Amino acid sequence: MDVLKGLQLSLSVILLLACGFLYQLSLKSNRLFSCLPPFKSQQRLEALLSHGRSIVFLETSERTDPPPMVSCAVESAAKIYPGQPVAFFMKGLNNSTQLPSNATPPALSLLSAIDNVFLFPLDMRTLFEDTPLFSWYTRVNVSAERNWLHVSSDAARLAVIWKYGGIYMDTDVISIRPIPEENFLAAQASQYSSNGVFGFRARHPFLWGCMENFVEHYNSDIWGQQGPALLTRMLKLWCRPGDFQELRDLQCPNVSFLHPQRFYPISYPEWRRYYEVWDTEPSFNDSYALHLWNHMNQEGRAVVRGSRTLLENLYRKHCPRTYRDLIQGPEGSATRGLGPGNK
Ligand SMILES: *[C@@H]1O[C@H](CO)[C@@H](O)[C@H](O)[C@H]1NC(C)=O
Ligand SMILES: *[C@@H]1O[C@H](CO)[C@@H](O)[C@H](O)[C@H]1NC(C)=O
Ligand SMILES: *[C@@H]1O[C@H](CO)[C@@H](O)[C@H](O)[C@H]1NC(C)=O
Ligand SMILES: *[C@@H]1O[C@H](CO)[C@@H](O)[C@H](O)[C@H]1NC(C)=O
Ligand SMILES: *[C@@H]1O[C@H](CO)[C@@H](O)[C@H](O)[C@H]1NC(C)=O
Repeated sequence: MDVLKGLQLSLSVILLLACGFLYQLSLKSNRLFSCLPPFKSQQRLEALLSHGRSIVFLETSERTDPPPMVSCAVESAAKIYPGQPVAFFMKGLNNSTQLPSNATPPALSLLSAIDNVFLFPLDMRTLFEDTPLFSWYTRVNVSAERNWLHVSSDAARLAVIWKYGGIYMDTDVISIRPIPEENFLAAQASQYSSNGVFGFRARHPFLWGCMENFVEHYNSDIWGQQGPALLTRMLKLWCRPGDFQELRDLQCPNVSFLHPQRFYPISYPEWRRYYEVWDTEPSFNDSYALHLWNHMNQEGRAVVRGSRTLLENLYRKHCPRTYRDLIQGPEGSATRGLGPGNK
């Protein structure tokens, strides 16, 4: 009898603990893993992002187990902007077949444990409502689109920053110091804008124009047509920026065009430099964040613990939790990296 009681007690304690843990997670990550009635997530989202100071990341694939680089990007933003919400929208969280079941992916438990990181399901239909992109979205045949992951990401970032304001960043951008601008585009090269980082106050007319132009000139077979090329042609309509002089940013009416050094101190032909050991590492004193050009990394280079590469050192400094939990040594032996249930 006593044994049974003891068993019952410990079971209840375990259940309580589990619920407490799940409750914490669900507070921060919506209806995921919830022991409680569903949250009104759309309202929570609006309340959180309505101050216009959020940092926004998107995952438009169904993936719900972010790799270390994505985790690092989000963590580094949370570290550099401690008083601002960092919102990570994931398409896979809007898909019941993709929801993490009992074992939360390590990067998701790491990120949801950070106070100012918030995970949201990316529901494109709701996101595009009340924007010029809605008519396009309802017409497009997704299964016929070859570059859908990119194209939908190009669209979603415009809509989310137009609606809520804030800064959009690609998931291969490591934040190293705060961006002191509200309305800005990032130059990738002279007279050429990237769409990997940009920031605007909510309802900025520049972004509305971009969304209209997106739909008018939509051609998903041309790489970048809806991405960097879109922002570049809209910038040229807005103010005809000249060439950069020294390290100065260019000022257009209500939009700054930031020097390539701010985000692209290592340009894309040089992307492998991040995976090399340097004699003297660059200080990146003129940069706010580092774009790592992950799409160039078809050969699957990874950060290896103890390799002393530039990127390993950047991880250690700017995303220490990711480094601690997700970066493995040369043998592929995770030092930790187990889910929260296994700690
Ligand atoms: C996904 O989005 C749709 C709206 O497009 C919504 O009705 C549905 O509840 C969402 N599913 C999940 C699992 O969040
Ligand atoms: C959910 O994810 C699965 C697997 O990636 C995919 O086949 C399916 O189309 C997705 N469902 C929706 C509604 O996006
Ligand atoms: C969408 O595209 C697929 C693949 O090209 C095609 O088989 C299908 O018929 C298209 N659907 C519509 C409604 O056009
Ligand atoms: C710039 O912003 C100010 C204040 O928001 C606004 O009055 C003005 O029309 C804007 N100028 C342009 C060119 O959009
Ligand atoms: C970079 O900035 C730091 C502090 O702001 C300073 O100590 C250092 O000398 C600078 N390095 C270079 C190369 O300018």
